[in-house]
Amino acid sequence: MSEHFRVHGGARLVGEVDVVGAKNSVLKLMAAALLAEGTTTLTNCPDILDVPLMADALRSLGCEVELEGDVARITTPRELSYHADSEAMGKLRASICVLGPLVGRCKRAVVALPGGDAIGSRPLDMHQSGLEKLGAKTWIEHGCIVAEAEGLHGAQIWLDFPSMGATENILMAAVLANGTTVIDNAAREPEIVDLCLMLTQMGARIEGAGTSTLTVHGVTELKPTEHRVIGDRIVGATWGFAAAMTRGDVRVRGVNPHHLDLVLEKLRMAGAEVTVYEGEDEGFRVVMDGRPKAVDFVTLPYPGFATDNQPFAIALSAVSEGTSMITENLFEARFRFIDEMIRLGADARTDGHHAVIRGVEKLSSAPVWASDIRAGAGLVLAGLCADGATEVYEIFHIERGYPGFVENLRKLGADVERVSS
Ligand code: EPU
Repeated sequence: MSEHFRVHGGARLVGEVDVVGAKNSVLKLMAAALLAEGTTTLTNCPDILDVPLMADALRSLGCEVELEGDVARITTPRELSYHADSEAMGKLRASICVLGPLVGRCKRAVVALPGGDAIGSRPLDMHQSGLEKLGAKTWIEHGCIVAEAEGLHGAQIWLDFPSMGATENILMAAVLANGTTVIDNAAREPEIVDLCLMLTQMGARIEGAGTSTLTVHGVTELKPTEHRVIGDRIVGATWGFAAAMTRGDVRVRGVNPHHLDLVLEKLRMAGAEVTVYEGEDEGFRVVMDGRPKAVDFVTLPYPGFATDNQPFAIALSAVSEGTSMITENLFEARFRFIDEMIRLGADARTDGHHAVIRGVEKLSSAPVWASDIRAGAGLVLAGLCADGATEVYEIFHIERGYPGFVENLRKLGADVERVSS
């Protein structure tokens, strides 16, 4: 028996919501724990399925992992297994980020290639060429990526594109390499900065975190640390869009508002009143009176508008006044979810990288299927603005990224329930 969400549209979301640690940070930080013998502690870990999956992946490499509430304690042995091809690895896209630490620590790695993804092809050529620049040989064999090195040495690396995954793997291999590595056109996402911060606490010597040029002076050994995972800016954005679409008033806590500067600016352009809060009580508040106005969106690596927020931009555009153009520059198949939006009455068409959405007053409920985490959340947001009851299927995708999604929605006044199918 599976479960789906039933969303009754029409409610105005009002209230406060807490954002937990970022999925796309915690999984990399867990992998980084492989770099130091001893116990690394991560706090503010989100309660999502990917965390225990990653814990299983680390256990298969010889670590002991204890998950308790929002705390993960990872004890890494002196001798690690370098065979990362357990079942958990194949289920988790982010498992590829053990590659860099394993090459760094063991000088070899056999890592199961993660399965296909509904958002489009996700090659690993930049991960491979970066590690090769550091002195490793890499190849694909029996469904795994294999890397071997006599020893790693510093190198100048230019990435074709500021890939998060490639930046993370190269960085985590370079921290233990002999000499200085410079990664140019590196990813600048807040999750990369979070990783650099934790590696630095572990004794790594990294300059330029948050810029396009990362300089890494290799050290011989890292030590375990304790680190708090940054708040999830994509989950934060989801609530911001939900507030704007339902003409609501939502205060979001637990995320650095500057990680969402462009998102918040777009919501202001759509007519929302946005207040940001810094320090202890960090977060933001989005208040929307009346119908949102159409705004254009272009996805780009950070600080551009995140591709992960693109489904929310489409959902907002679908109910806005006017016509929006959305351009997707990262994952070609992410527009597939527009077919589900059309089922809900959106007036949308795509042409290559572009989607044109003409806003309608109200969407119309229908059964729809989530194809990935963000598409699923986007469909729920659309359901909040549809007449009648929208059934959203394949919700396991959504639950991979949003702990307590239904509970939070209900707390804000949405009429949403989990139903056995
Ligand atoms: N790319 C290559 N070659 C490579 C690596 C990437 O061509 O060797 C291309 C990809 O095909 C894509 C672009 O570079 O067009 C960017 O990919 P990137 O490597 O940055 O993505 P990723 O690290 O695989 C992470 C997030 C995604 C998020 C993207 C983009 C994790 C676990 N995943 O993926 O998050 O969409 O960055 O920001 O961190 C999600 O959370 O729902 C999600 C899919």
